[in-house]
Amino acid sequence: MRALSERFRPYEWALSTAEIARLAGIAPEQVLRFDGNTPPHPRPTSNVAAVERALARVNTYAHGGFPELLEAIADYAGVGTENIVLGAGADDLIMLVARSFAGPGDVVSVRDEPTYPVYRVSSWIAGAEVGDDDPVLTFVCRPHNPTGALVPLPDARPLAVDEAYFEYTGGKTAAGLLDDGVIVIRTFSKAFGLAGARIGYALAAVDTAAELNERQAPAPISSISAALALAGLADPPDVSETLEERDRLAAGLRGLDLEPASSWANFVYVPVAEAGALTDALLRKGLAVRGSAEGIRITPREAADDDVLLRRVAEALGR
Ligand SMILES: Cc1ncc(COP(=O)(O)O)c(C=O)c1O
Repeated sequence: MRALSERFRPYEWALSTAEIARLAGIAPEQVLRFDGNTPPHPRPTSNVAAVERALARVNTYAHGGFPELLEAIADYAGVGTENIVLGAGADDLIMLVARSFAGPGDVVSVRDEPTYPVYRVSSWIAGAEVGDDDPVLTFVCRPHNPTGALVPLPDARPLAVDEAYFEYTGGKTAAGLLDDGVIVIRTFSKAFGLAGARIGYALAAVDTAAELNERQAPAPISSISAALALAGLADPPDVSETLEERDRLAAGLRGLDLEPASSWANFVYVPVAEAGALTDALLRKGLAVRGSAEGIRITPREAADDDVLLRRVAEALGR
């Protein structure tokens, strides 16, 4: 196998729900995950009827691709179908963009680090290094994971803007810059509640999208996932309740003398000393948050679950 950068580190998943349950001495159903930046339940459009037609033809390839889905995404995103590249989630599109633009000897810039680790992973797997010296590609995460900030758009080109949390921003997007060397990456995993279906899309200038499509796998998404995405787009999500609950959770955290960062996404980032110890203490109670060196990131669930978390955070911090 071709050697990768000496700095290469693979993506690391959080503990499984079964492992957390074992650690906490509770049943897996009692574990509450606040660490995935996904909604607590599927949307009503994710149902058996939505996939019936796709299931009846699951023995065949989707010859000719998914024209209906491309039309629906084009309508939703305000672009043409020829601007769209489909992928198995935003991750697949990040990997595609990295390997299409960068290779051995190249440098890829990742802005606002620490941020979503797959920009680094995909660059390293493409054989490139991560740095800021004459990059062939720049990644920016906007809104930013993990802080939720609407970070400035870099002037660098080509620029891949990860808009995984676009739906929570009230329409903030770089999609108007496609003809200026910008590629926008989005997903159905977050507001559309389809993380398990693995489906996302990139938007790019027509020639860039064509080249990316040529470099993409022949059949990158499943017909079942395409059907779920299409059903979701027929009734796009209203995220207002999620945002209200996020803000209520943030107020609760402020009530504990914490200072959650203001967020444009479906999570809140809270700087805390000894974030690792707090993350660990919560895990032992069956509550998973995303811990990092200097803080924890929390995805709100429903009010009752979030209140349990607030109580446990208060206990762990002695407040
Ligand atoms: C910024 C960002 N990009 C991409 C992803 C992955 O999205 P997908 O499930 O579409 O691969 C995530 C998931 O947490 C994310 O936070």
